[in-house]
Amino acid sequence: MTNYRIAPSILSADFARLGEEVRNVVEAGADIIHFDVMDNHYVPNLTIGPLVCEAIRPHVQVPIDVHLMVKPVDRIIPDFAKAGANIISFHPEASEHIDRTLQLIRDQGCKAGLVFNPGTPLHYLEHVMDKLDLILIMSVNPGFGGQSFIPEALKKIAAVRKMIDASGFDIMLEVDGGVKVDNIAAVAKAGADTFVAGSAIFGKPDYKAVIDAMRTQLASA
Ligand code: DX5
Ligand code: ZN
Repeated sequence: MTNYRIAPSILSADFARLGEEVRNVVEAGADIIHFDVMDNHYVPNLTIGPLVCEAIRPHVQVPIDVHLMVKPVDRIIPDFAKAGANIISFHPEASEHIDRTLQLIRDQGCKAGLVFNPGTPLHYLEHVMDKLDLILIMSVNPGFGGQSFIPEALKKIAAVRKMIDASGFDIMLEVDGGVKVDNIAAVAKAGADTFVAGSAIFGKPDYKAVIDAMRTQLASA
């Protein structure tokens, strides 16, 4: 049986109470904290950096999954590693040297991931499967929370699932964007094992009720 992980994105949390928000969502059953970093350059929005990662680190024991939507990528990676990130992923279009960036992340003691926008082809994976701990498929275009799931992503998730299984490597398959209680089972059936959800969880008053409902859906997937 697949070990499913739910990764709430703090992009939709109340930033004025972030420590309490991450404690509450872990208490409610989150397996991972998804941390969206946007630079107003690679994506048209600006969010949070290593200082905020360092600030929430003492509040949670679960892994912090840093999703870098920044360009360039390499300069900021050691800062996030020092700030307590456990997983760091980046978009291949944002790095001139993908293999080097993946190696840099692992050299800093973190798990390394590559992120694919809805329009980004999967060929970037071909020669780096041995350097990956995570593949993140975007089911929205990055930059904002609260967007609708793009159904075409399901085919891409299924294609990546086949590639991971054929590779024999232990690689997490994460999906990010528009994931809700009513579509999480379909995303799992396509082959994902890790589910980012921002507005579906932090937009609701009872985090545990949403996470429990997601797990019920996953149990039937
Ligand atoms: C979008 C971010 C997502 C976002 C997901 O660029 O990478 O992690 O927070 O938010 P929802 O779940 O609301 O689509
Ligand atoms: Zn994200």
